[in-house]
Amino acid sequence: MSLAIVSWIAGPVLHAVKQGPFSLRESVRVGPQALLGEVVRIHDDQIVVQVYEDTSGLRPGIEVHGDGQPLAIRLGPGLLGNIFDGLLRPLSGTGSDFVQPGMRSAAAGHRRFEPRIGAGALLAPGAVIGEAGSAAGSTIRAQLCLAPPDVSGVVESVAAPGEYADDESVCVVRQGDGRLRQVAMSHVWPVRMPRPVLRRVPALAPLVTGQRILDCLFPVAQGGKAAIPGGFGTGKTVLLEALAKGCNADVIVYLGCGERGNEMAGVLDEFPTLTDPRSGRPLMERTVIIANTSNMPVAAREASIYCAITVAEYFRDQGLHVALMADSTSRWAEALREVSGRFGELPGEGGYPAYLSSRLADFYERAALVETLGGGTGSVTVMGAISPPSGDFSEPVTSHTKRYVKAFWALDVKRAQARFYPAIHPLQSYAEDAREFAPWWAAQGNGQWLALRRRFLTLLDEQAQLERMARIIGKDALPARQQLTLLCAELVNEAFLRQSAFSEIDRVCSPARQAAMMRLLGRFIELAEGAQAAGVEPERIAGMGCMRALQRMGEEIADHELPRFAELEARLEREIAQITSARETRDAAHG
Ligand SMILES: Nc1ncnc2c1ncn2[C@@H]1O[C@H](COP(=O)(O)OP(=O)(O)O)[C@@H](O)[C@H]1O
Ligand SMILES: [Mg+2]
Repeated sequence: MSLAIVSWIAGPVLHAVKQGPFSLRESVRVGPQALLGEVVRIHDDQIVVQVYEDTSGLRPGIEVHGDGQPLAIRLGPGLLGNIFDGLLRPLSGTGSDFVQPGMRSAAAGHRRFEPRIGAGALLAPGAVIGEAGSAAGSTIRAQLCLAPPDVSGVVESVAAPGEYADDESVCVVRQGDGRLRQVAMSHVWPVRMPRPVLRRVPALAPLVTGQRILDCLFPVAQGGKAAIPGGFGTGKTVLLEALAKGCNADVIVYLGCGERGNEMAGVLDEFPTLTDPRSGRPLMERTVIIANTSNMPVAAREASIYCAITVAEYFRDQGLHVALMADSTSRWAEALREVSGRFGELPGEGGYPAYLSSRLADFYERAALVETLGGGTGSVTVMGAISPPSGDFSEPVTSHTKRYVKAFWALDVKRAQARFYPAIHPLQSYAEDAREFAPWWAAQGNGQWLALRRRFLTLLDEQAQLERMARIIGKDALPARQQLTLLCAELVNEAFLRQSAFSEIDRVCSPARQAAMMRLLGRFIELAEGAQAAGVEPERIAGMGCMRALQRMGEEIADHELPRFAELEARLEREIAQITSARETRDAAHG
């Protein structure tokens, strides 16, 4: 392999004089500790290297060795249930809290291999070669073992069922060019190269998040992309964690990127203790955590989002639906800015390099619903938090991200200060694909979804305008019809949009319960408007006995108690009828 001699070092960046050929993006080993780095620029006689580990102690004169391949990670059955650093080196199960310098990405361990193909079979790229059982002492379910996307040919031999190391050959393939390729349960893939698929398919279903405001008002597609911008303390991390616990993805890849160690500690301590509500089994069994906190080397943070999305694609290729949560893409962009500054690049907007936008595009572009090489269907849905400085959404990371995501879940400081959670602002947020999901909701028994969604959004918009007016002229001076609009909007906010991440009953809301709640609120609006048209004053509607039960229905009626919504609806109808007939009696008496 090629050699270069270090001539200049500044933090994570070094220059080295070439003694042989290097290629761009080639992964390299630096110095006696073999620190991991990547060639980011090549001059006539020099290479510029970005080093992913702490460079203190390095000095000019030490050697840089090329790996002859781009920065790559090992993908295999050892991923699920584990915690890794930004370069996919195991943090859990190493007996140490720290990754040793120079350590390589590794899917460690032995596990059982059950072949699914035989000698003489034709192996297509990305096809299933067998199944990997769980490692000794682990409860992780069996996983498919895929041929690497760049291997195809005739199977020469397959290992007998038994215990093998993750990286031990279990299948020998004779390729078209006559060469033999050894295939193991795991394989290595370069992180900056999207894994190939048969084709991308248009999204048909939403990712069910269990959060009412998202599923009903601002849905993201399974295989879609969403951004969660929000100032400090507005609830980004709590929301991402709630999504990781409650969404209907098969596999969760949680990337803690550049946040402070203590924020990440919440995830690292809590996740291993959680139970998956769907299976009753530990949530970690279908989770991969990648932790790259602010105290870890900044250059590795830049690489961590590519590692995370490559891991997500690997599970997608097994025909699974994967949700990737990244907290936060702003810290990633800051790493990009810092490293770019060290290269001496000309800073652009906000000090970020000019390629910020295209890097964001490359990342979000990898979210998709696909037909896999193996013939199955899988998806990667990406949800990225953004922490704009001082909550200003016009800054570069937020504004560029907006160009690439379909769903925008804007967290609002005022709502968060009022402890209204999730603090997603219904007027600043949007979902471009929403209409596409009407058939999906209809199949869930909610044929009214699109109409009710529009009704709620109009109501919330009217509320904002009326409140502005009420601040000037006073709420009581508003006409009765507008007071009723405010009453309905408040109910939609209180009963529907507010959802505590810490309520046993309400932290995840099933589509069936969301549909029942939407229907009941739609019915309330319809009946209240009817009563108002018949002359009933808004304060009488607000004073109905069922109002409290309506406001608290999310907290009080669980997923398995859906008939109680019909009872509440019957009560609402009775009370509306009472106040309407009382009004008619009074009218008759006065007339
Ligand atoms: N959905 C929620 N339900 C209840 N409390 C929440 C919710 N979201 C946020 N909070 C409260 O707000 C605090 C800050 O949230 P956090 O997610 O850490 O903010 P950020 O990551 O945006 O800085 C949390 O510690 C919690 O008390
Ligand atoms: Mg946070």
